[in-house]
Amino acid sequence: MTNSTESLPVIDIASRDVAHVGEALDRACCEFGFFYITGHGIDRALSARMMTLAREFFAQPQEHKMAIAMAHGGRAWRGYFPVDGELTSGRPDRKEGVYFGTELGPDDARVRSGLPLHGMNLFPALPGFRDTLLAYIDEVTAVGQLLLSGIAVGLGLPQDYFFERYTRDPTVLFRIFNYPPATAGADENELGVGEHTDYGLLTLLQQDEVGGLQIWHHDRWIPAPPVPDSFVCNVGDMLERLTAGRYVSALHRVRNVSTQDRISMPLFLDPSFDSVLEPIKILAPDLTAAGRRRHGRRWDGADLATVSGNYGDYLLNKVSKVFPELREKVL
Ligand code: OGA
Ligand code: NI
Repeated sequence: MTNSTESLPVIDIASRDVAHVGEALDRACCEFGFFYITGHGIDRALSARMMTLAREFFAQPQEHKMAIAMAHGGRAWRGYFPVDGELTSGRPDRKEGVYFGTELGPDDARVRSGLPLHGMNLFPALPGFRDTLLAYIDEVTAVGQLLLSGIAVGLGLPQDYFFERYTRDPTVLFRIFNYPPATAGADENELGVGEHTDYGLLTLLQQDEVGGLQIWHHDRWIPAPPVPDSFVCNVGDMLERLTAGRYVSALHRVRNVSTQDRISMPLFLDPSFDSVLEPIKILAPDLTAAGRRRHGRRWDGADLATVSGNYGDYLLNKVSKVFPELREKVL
C-alpha cells in the first residue's frame, strides 16, 4: 500500500478498510507527516471543474479580481489577495489567492456574535463558481472526515474519536492559490509560500501538474510532485499536539521553478473554534519530535505542548500574523 521511504507514501483508500488504511496512515503520519491519497471517490469531473474555474478566475484582469478583495470580506476573512499580499514566514509570498470557508448566513449564531473567520464567502462572478465550490468543499471535507476516522483507528482509538471531540462542526477553510513562475535569476529565498506548518488537524490539497511543493524530511527538502487524481495530505499543528508528537506537523514550502503559473487548492479541516485540545491519553509524549525539525526547533519558535485556550484563539493569532494589515482593520 505504501511505497519507498524516500518519496512520500501514496495510500489508496478505495477499499474503505479502515483497519488497513489506518495502519498505513499511522506509518505515514509518524514518518513524514505527509502522504498522498488516491481512491478517494471524489468525482473527477468535479475536481477538474474546480481547477478550471480557479484558472479562469486568476486569468481575469486585476480589477475583476479586486472586486472580491479581502478588504470586502470583513470579519469573515474571505476574498482575494494579490501577489505579495500574505506574509507566511514573515516575508511576502510570491502567490495570489482567494480565501473561502463554510458558507454561513447572517442568522448563524456565530456570525451574529461577530466571531472572526465565520460568515459568507465572496464569490467571483463566473458562471457555476458558487455551486461547484460549495459541492467541492463538501466532498473534500467528507474525505477528510474519513481520513480522521482512519487515523483514529490507526492510533488504537474509536473510529469517531476526532469527530466526537473536534470535528462534528469543524472549522473548514478552503484556499485557491496561483503561484507565478519564479522571477529571472531568483535564488532559493524567493518562495511561493514561505516555510511553515499548517495550523489545524489535517490539510487536503489538490495541485495541478506543475509541481513545486517541498517537505522537510530527514534534514532536507523532498518534493511532493503531482500525482494524478490524488490529494496531498498533511498533519497540522493540532494533530501533532493531540498525538503528543507521535505525528509531525511537517515544515513545507513552495518554489515554482517552472515557467508556468501553478495552481493549488488546499482544504484545511480543523477543530471547531471552541474546541479545547487535550492530548490523547493513551499516547506517551514522543520526544523525538524536536529532532525531526529543521534546526531542531519549530519555524515559529512555538512549543505546541504549552498551547492553551481553544482552537479559535490559536488560529486567529496565526492568521493575524500573516495578514497584519487586515488584523488592524477587522479584528
Ligand atoms: C498552505 C500550503 C502549499 C501549496 O496553503 O498551507 O502549504 O502547494 N500550500 O499551495
Ligand atoms: Ni501549508
